Amino acid sequence: MTENKYYGHSLVPVQPLGLGTNKVGGHNLFPNLKDEDGVAVIKAAIANDLDMLDTAYMYGLGRSEEIIGETVGKKDRRKLVIATKAAQTPADPHVIDNSPAFLKQAVADALERLQTKTIDIFYIHFPDQKTPKNQAVAALDELRQEGKVGAIGVSNFSLAQIREANLNGMLDVVEDNYSLVHRDAERTLFPYLREQGISFVPYFPLASGLLTGKYNREDGAKFSQFSAAQFSQIMDGIDVVRGIAKQHDATVAQTVLAWYIANPDIATVIPGARNVQQLEQNVKARDVQLSDDEYQQIDQAFSAF
Ligand SMILES: NC(=O)c1ccc[n+]([C@@H]2O[C@H](COP(=O)([O-])OP(=O)(O)OC[C@H]3O[C@@H](n4cnc5c(N)ncnc54)[C@H](OP(=O)(O)O)[C@@H]3O)[C@@H](O)[C@H]2O)c1
Repeated sequence: MTENKYYGHSLVPVQPLGLGTNKVGGHNLFPNLKDEDGVAVIKAAIANDLDMLDTAYMYGLGRSEEIIGETVGKKDRRKLVIATKAAQTPADPHVIDNSPAFLKQAVADALERLQTKTIDIFYIHFPDQKTPKNQAVAALDELRQEGKVGAIGVSNFSLAQIREANLNGMLDVVEDNYSLVHRDAERTLFPYLREQGISFVPYFPLASGLLTGKYNREDGAKFSQFSAAQFSQIMDGIDVVRGIAKQHDATVAQTVLAWYIANPDIATVIPGARNVQQLEQNVKARDVQLSDDEYQQIDQAFSAF
């Protein structure tokens, strides 16, 4: 069970399970996406009481935010925690900007696309090379005081950049790449985040589908970031998860997501979904209660990562 009640020092309530929306309107990142599928996924999230949506300017260069804004009604907006991110400049998304002026404009533009008065969590999506990080966060703190931002986050920041961003203790959330097959953050970030009371949200929790159990031992070539030996270890680990999933009448993906939900270092797990079917399967992770022993077995099965 998560230990966080609110993200960092904010008053935004933690939702253990959310939805990653890079496949909602993220046409620049994934081929053959249809807006209507994205709309259906957002509607299904709301219908299934999935009360946290994670989006970004970069997902469709504003289109993901627009779809959320167009789809979420006023009544549903009140119960939802919406997180978005910016740093890529609209003129050239390869150029990253964390300057106070850029961030203030980015928040204003995102508020409009999301058709909302407050962004519950606003992340600086990527660090630039020039802006002192505490100055970037101070600009967001001004917006927080104006009620335009609820909690302040950074993403893809090194520990040194996180420390700089948190110089005045104003950082609430960090989002970074973390999953059972990518556990560096446990060593590099978690000790500092715990000490400072900063919440952690992992991205790629299903390792882009690898941890759903839908790939088999012949699929190693599709995951070139892993050596053959590592891929074999991952398949062994998934077999362990499959055994535990069976006991709960659950799927591998649901059981992996349940492991994150039970992990006290993780505030919210935000699996992405390409369609309503995937979303409807993933929300059932909330029904899987792992015993301490099962939690440890999964932890051990992926201890090499
Ligand atoms: N801050 C950042 O820089 C950053 C970077 C990346 C992502 N993110 C955020 O993190 C979220 C999660 O990351 P992600 O979506 O890229 O990766 P993920 O959650 O690890 O994997 C999601 C993908 O796995 C597959 N999948 C999901 N549920 C499934 C199911 N039940 N059965 C079979 N396949 C299933 C789908 O892809 P297929 O159907 O294609 O297999 C889906 O798009 C994103 O949506 C985004 O909001 C943030």
